[in-house]
Amino acid sequence: MGRLFESKYGYFTEDGKEYVITNPHTPRPWVNVISNGDYSIIASHTGSGYSWRGNAGQNRITRLYQDLIKDNWGKYFYIRDLESGKYWSAAWKPVMADYQLYEVTHGIGYTVYRHKVEDIYSEMKVFVTVKDPVEIIHLRLRNDSSKMRRLDVTSYFEWVLGNFPDEHREFHKLFIVPEFKGNTIYVRKYLGQFPDEKGRWNNTNWDHVAFHSVSLPVKSFTCDKESFVGMYGDEKFPMAMRTERLDNKCDRFGDACASLQVEITLEPTEEREIVFTIGAAKIGEEDAEELSKRYTNVERTKEEFENVRKFWMDLLEKELVETPDEGLNIMTNYWAKYQAISGRIWARSGYYQVSAGYGFRDQLQDSQIFFSLNPELAKKQILLHAEHQFQEGDVLHWWFTIRGGGPRTHCSDDLLWLPFITQEYIKETMDYSILDEVVPYVDGGKGTLYEHCKRAIEKAFKRFSPRGLPLIGENDWNDGMNAVGTDWKGESIWLAHFMYLLLKEFIPLIELKGDLRFAAKCKDTLEVLKESVNRYAWDGEWFIRATKDDGEEIGSKKNEEGFIFLNAQTWAVISDITDEERKIRAMESVKKYLLKDYGALLLYPAYTKPRSDIGYITRYAPGLRENGGVYTHAATWAVWAFALMRDVEAMYKAYRGICPPYRSEDIDKYWAEPYVTCGNSDGPISPHYGRGGWTWYTGSAQWLHRVATHWILGIRPNYGYLDIDPVIPSSWSGFTYKRYFGNTRYTITVKNPNNVSYGVKKIVLDGEEVEKVPILKDGREHTVEVILG
Ligand code: GLC
Repeated sequence: MGRLFESKYGYFTEDGKEYVITNPHTPRPWVNVISNGDYSIIASHTGSGYSWRGNAGQNRITRLYQDLIKDNWGKYFYIRDLESGKYWSAAWKPVMADYQLYEVTHGIGYTVYRHKVEDIYSEMKVFVTVKDPVEIIHLRLRNDSSKMRRLDVTSYFEWVLGNFPDEHREFHKLFIVPEFKGNTIYVRKYLGQFPDEKGRWNNTNWDHVAFHSVSLPVKSFTCDKESFVGMYGDEKFPMAMRTERLDNKCDRFGDACASLQVEITLEPTEEREIVFTIGAAKIGEEDAEELSKRYTNVERTKEEFENVRKFWMDLLEKELVETPDEGLNIMTNYWAKYQAISGRIWARSGYYQVSAGYGFRDQLQDSQIFFSLNPELAKKQILLHAEHQFQEGDVLHWWFTIRGGGPRTHCSDDLLWLPFITQEYIKETMDYSILDEVVPYVDGGKGTLYEHCKRAIEKAFKRFSPRGLPLIGENDWNDGMNAVGTDWKGESIWLAHFMYLLLKEFIPLIELKGDLRFAAKCKDTLEVLKESVNRYAWDGEWFIRATKDDGEEIGSKKNEEGFIFLNAQTWAVISDITDEERKIRAMESVKKYLLKDYGALLLYPAYTKPRSDIGYITRYAPGLRENGGVYTHAATWAVWAFALMRDVEAMYKAYRGICPPYRSEDIDKYWAEPYVTCGNSDGPISPHYGRGGWTWYTGSAQWLHRVATHWILGIRPNYGYLDIDPVIPSSWSGFTYKRYFGNTRYTITVKNPNNVSYGVKKIVLDGEEVEKVPILKDGREHTVEVILG
């Protein structure tokens, strides 16, 4: 098979569905975030990582202490030659033995570690079942030597069981209760993470039973860390590998861990398979013993692996593109979707950031990934966010997924993402019924989703300056501008743009509801916004970003640092709030100051000193994250804006710069995984210009997908019709785009015989020339041929 985007650390397989790491010394751990929406794991390419259920903060199963340099916490599997006493691990960590082969394949829903040491080939496949709170570690061992080998295989990891109170570990370990039965270690914790019904803390049990099991008869086991690693020992040289067997200790008086040891013999060329499982069953609802028995066997494991593959491909392949741009294909078809769903919406954790909650605006935006794949899941997500709105219209900035609860802040934009994403959902699905769904408010009472959306908009209307501009409050989309407007005087120009687009798009729905007074109010506000933005926010060559409580402008020529901000320009174009001439000038300024080789910077020049009147963006080192780095989430919007401007060169540069496979070319500069987006990469002022970080848990994945499909390929469902308006490099001879609408499949073939970049000359639907393509839902297959020229 051909290798795509090969670097010294790895490559994509020809179908783009897998990334193979061939060298363990990647500049940073390259991980896979695998989730079934309930139970999740992170698997790093070294074999490290951890497990949780529900969310990584409140219900952690196994222990990991964030350390991207050592990457030395995990669920480890040792292989030992019982004749020579030599041992290594199934993955590179923790033993890091000299190897004959080391190769890690991150796939959609699984990771496989291939290792060969001392002529023993091992293949360890890890994944999470489709529906149950169980992870599977499927190990295959083969004797590639010419003599019979006697081996044992030993698992080892530490438990957390609930909240992750590492600073109180000595306290928490006292409540862990392990039990060994059959081939399985079961473990409970007599201390829950929540108070009891009378509000008394430390008075409940953890509400799960966790387990660790193996498919072969257990030779020995231990539940005590000290007896495994040895006092002052570590995982690389554990005492357990110097003793013949584990001590079979399993009581409440040690330092809890789980370790199971099995023994096998292998004739030359012989292969054996072993299945280990880890899981957590909710007490009273699920049966740990049943779950562990069900999955801890080789046949069932193979079946379940096929289920996992099928589950993901059925979901992701509902929409497929084929363009001359291989990086765009790989990201759009598989990895950006997988990242957005598995990493952002379900697992909600990456190696750089653990999230226990849903961010109000975050997973709402992410839910757009489901529009083309499974709109029901988008609907569920939108309604869930609506439940976290107050009657007054404002929302929890984020909330915990277990038992709710989160901060009610003075953020000015997150409430508005509810109507924004709702109208995008309806635009794509025609499911108007979502507006009538009755959803509770977080502080009591309930209303239809339409009422929720209306309250959000009405609340935002109360937060305007005398100049007719929205107030920024504690922050807008840029969380780190958290000191600009805390006294409710400072204004946000980005928010004005955003609100302008939102109102424009939402007014038809208001009219549909017959809410004419409110529609009139929204129309008035539209005018006010346009008038005020153009009167007060134009700085000559671009739009300013905000004003502070004291009236000082930010993102203005008058500033020495941070004199131009990206969002204030891109959204002026996206929202269409200004005239052509200003759009052109603003985007020329973006090209002049912000658009770099690795995408568009969030602002320029970076702040070099903390500014307590602006906020924590100024406290990052210059060029890092929101302080003048490429903040990938916002950088995707530059692609959108340049597409609207028909500035193909800039659009494509803005896209390619942040499309991760292309960073394989300078991977030692980039550092990050080439198969998922990074949250940010360093701006030019950093000595590490172009270095990516904060991968996986970033809203950029969904937007990277969306700007590719909607604004580069230009295929946009729009209230029952498909807008088809590609903006592509003129060298492309065309592309195809396939997707389902319900059970109806569309295959759109775009041809570019005259090498143009945009402009649709002819559209043929099922053999007949048409002006517009209706989205039929008749269960049939439809073909659309589009000729550009
Ligand atoms: C973080 C937040 C997101 C915010 C962004 C910009 O990614 O999760 O909600 O918009 O930072 O500050």
